Amino acid sequence: MQFYPPEYYDDARNGFTAIKTVPLASAMGAEILNVDVANITDEQFTQVEKALYHYKMIFFRNQQNMTIDDQEALTLRFGDFGTDAYTDGIEGHPNVQRLIKEASTVVDWIFGDGWHTDSPFMEQPPAVSMLQSLDIPPYGGDTWWSNTELAYNLLSEKMKDVIADLRVHMSAAWVLSNVNKGKPKLNDLSVGEIELTMNQKKMVEGWFHPLVRTHPVTGNKSLFCDTSYSMGIEGMTQDESRPLLDFLGEWATREDFNCRLRWEPHMLVIWDNRQCLHKAFNDYDGYRREMIRTIVNGETPV
Ligand code: OGA
Ligand code: MN
Repeated sequence: MQFYPPEYYDDARNGFTAIKTVPLASAMGAEILNVDVANITDEQFTQVEKALYHYKMIFFRNQQNMTIDDQEALTLRFGDFGTDAYTDGIEGHPNVQRLIKEASTVVDWIFGDGWHTDSPFMEQPPAVSMLQSLDIPPYGGDTWWSNTELAYNLLSEKMKDVIADLRVHMSAAWVLSNVNKGKPKLNDLSVGEIELTMNQKKMVEGWFHPLVRTHPVTGNKSLFCDTSYSMGIEGMTQDESRPLLDFLGEWATREDFNCRLRWEPHMLVIWDNRQCLHKAFNDYDGYRREMIRTIVNGETPV
């Protein structure tokens, strides 16, 4: 099976002249070659942005030159910094989050666990997220993504009609119950080394968003639904909404809609939260993993 015709992956056809793309999987994801991110040109950036919307997730290898300042500068080319609901950022860089799991840390729930789109419980969830890898375990710690535009497109026309006008309640209730599980008191908010400084009440209240959202740049529709934050559907009872959300959440992460990245140190990964879901793996106890994370402010989904 092929989801897209061969020309979908053709750099010349896509106008990628200043970069080279190497698809990671049939459904989504691509490595970008010939770019030194710390010294990216305007022409390259325009094509990188287009490649991101095309492939949903893109990555660059061997970006040893890249500093935190470079990542901030690249993030700002996409738009303003997004506000992270979970952390305050690091000293001197309030818009940069450091994701660390130490070798000695053993937790049931890691940052990014469970299929999700970033912070959809906010009125304006981040449009784009970026991770730069500093320390990577020798095995494990991969990240998975899933293409929610493809997931929407491959629904039957009847199902598309059924869900067209529905609004999904996005809330952090279930995720926070996992973060808090086994902790002696509710205010001990941490995931391993990562101190969480968030407004839990607001995150649980969450927000209602269109279940089918339209990308502000490409105009393409995608399924805005995950198995971590999608808690209900406006106007429906839980008995009614749960089976539908369970189906859509499973469907959105069907194996062949995925790509999976085996990290190396000094990679930079960028993904579009409006067109894909992602998930971290908690399978590298005994090894350290460290990422530098930034997010781009998003629009209110329509
Ligand atoms: C994130 C996230 C996944 C990972 O940064 O939003 O979900 O594998 N990360 O670290
Ligand atoms: Mn995430």
